[in-house]
Amino acid sequence: MNIAIDGPAGAGKSTIARLAAQRLGFLYVDTGAMYRAIALYLLDAKTDIENEEKLKTALSHIKINIAYEKDVQHVFLNLQDVSAEIRSEKVGNMASRVATFPQVREKLLDLQRDIAAKNDVLMDGRDIGTNILPNAELKIYLTASVEVRAKRRYDELILMGGRPKLDVIKEDIEKRDYQDMNREIAPLRQAEDAVLIDSSDMTIEEVVAKILELAKERM
Ligand code: CDP
Repeated sequence: MNIAIDGPAGAGKSTIARLAAQRLGFLYVDTGAMYRAIALYLLDAKTDIENEEKLKTALSHIKINIAYEKDVQHVFLNLQDVSAEIRSEKVGNMASRVATFPQVREKLLDLQRDIAAKNDVLMDGRDIGTNILPNAELKIYLTASVEVRAKRRYDELILMGGRPKLDVIKEDIEKRDYQDMNREIAPLRQAEDAVLIDSSDMTIEEVVAKILELAKERM
C-alpha cells in the first residue's frame, strides 16, 4: 500500500508522517531529504545552477541513496551520510530552488517510484500524490496557516541549537510556498482525490490519528 502526503514547508509533514508510518509498520520516505542532499552538493561545489551544462555535469556526479537505521531514514550523498547537514535553512532554500529544474526532478523520480513499488510506504513531499504516486491508495494534503508553520519551524531550529529570527523564517516560508506552487514542473498542489487536513489548530497526535483512521478505511 502507498500513502502520499503532500503539503507546504513547515506543515508538520515529516513529524506526522514518521509517526503514522511507524504505527502502520510502513516505511517512511522523506523525499525532501533527497532534494536537500542534491542542494547540499550543489552548494558545496559552488555550481552555477543557472548554467544548464554545468548543472547537468554536476548532477552526473551525484548519487543519492537512502537506508534505514531503526526505522529512521538516512540519506546518503555519494555514499556519505548527510542526514544532519541537510537540515539547515540554507540547504532548504537551495532545495526549493533546485527542485524547479526538470533534470533534478527527473533524477529522483525513478528512485522514489522504485521504493514505493517494493514496500508499503508513506511518502512525503510536494508532488507525491499528483506526480510520483498517482495511484496511491490514500492521498493527504497537509497544510496550516503561514503563521503557524513559521512558528513551528522556528521552534524546530531553536531545538537544534540555532538562533533563528521568526520574521525571516516567515518570509522564507512564503517565498518557498510561492516557488513550490508556481514552478512549471510538478508544482505543489492538492491532488483531486486527496483528503485536505488543515493542522493549524490540531495537535500532532490528532493529525496522526486522523491519518491512521483514513489508512485503515482503505486497507
Ligand atoms: O522540511 P520542509 O517541508 O521545509 O521541506 P522538505 O520537505 O525538506 O523539502 C525541501 C524542498 O524540496 C521543498 O521546498 C521543495 O521545493 C522540494 N521538494 C520537492 O520539490 N518535491 C518533493 N517531493 C519534496 C521536496
